[in-house]
Amino acid sequence: MSESNVVEPVIGLIGGSGLYDIDGLEDKEWRTVETPWGKPSDQLLFGRLDGVQCVFLPRHGRGHPIPPSRLNYRANIAAMKMSGVTDIVSLSAVGSLKEELPPGHFVIVDQFIDRTIWREKSFFDTGCVAHISMADPLCPRIGDVLEAQTKALGIEATRGGTYLVMEGPQFSTRAESELYRTWGCSVIGMTNMPEATLAREAEICYATVAMVTDYDCWHTEHDNVTVESVVKTMQGNSAKAKALVKAVIPALGKPRGLCPAGCDRALEHALITAPEA
Ligand code: ADE
Repeated sequence: MSESNVVEPVIGLIGGSGLYDIDGLEDKEWRTVETPWGKPSDQLLFGRLDGVQCVFLPRHGRGHPIPPSRLNYRANIAAMKMSGVTDIVSLSAVGSLKEELPPGHFVIVDQFIDRTIWREKSFFDTGCVAHISMADPLCPRIGDVLEAQTKALGIEATRGGTYLVMEGPQFSTRAESELYRTWGCSVIGMTNMPEATLAREAEICYATVAMVTDYDCWHTEHDNVTVESVVKTMQGNSAKAKALVKAVIPALGKPRGLCPAGCDRALEHALITAPEA
């Protein structure tokens, strides 16, 4: 960031199941990025779209070899930070917990409930303590762009909703699925936490497009979720996701000021360890 606080955005894209590339990317190059937290899921794909610098990471690696609990979330976000990324759009397949969010629908979520238990969740776990605010875990500025572009493209999408992040890899029991519905959750998935928390700790603006593939297992008139149903719907979703990404990158890539929500300054009031310690 320059002295004048003009940000030249670098757009990071984290693609979930079914998204392993970006259409229309120019000067493409897969590069290995090593981080102090180890290896990210794969090499990162660098390129430009409409003149905007982009960095793409397939969340589970090309060919999908890494399960949600084994992802090195810290390395993935650190690799984005080390590549200069300022804004992340996370694309994720999810199950629906609400009748009105059918398979094929996109949700620009605004909250998370984190039920994961096995994951490294912070860059600040030794030597230096920081407590960032996660009251509003997603960047509303990126959310505005996603909302406008889904409308412009005629993609059925809902702004706002709570994403329940479960550990997996098994899908939920019916009792769990019903419980999350009583909590008012909109969608369920396995990957956006701690991804969102770590992006905030890294002071990267972060937003999620949750792409519904199934009704989990609560819906009496639909079959219980299976990998087959997820993959089938994901194929239709990924064409829409690719169109959305293509539209969102130029809109997000314009030079701008600091994030109005302060995601890019999250550590300003978060460090508790004395500087000299
Ligand atoms: N990803 C896609 N569908 C899902 C579901 N029903 N539960 C958890 N993760 C999912």
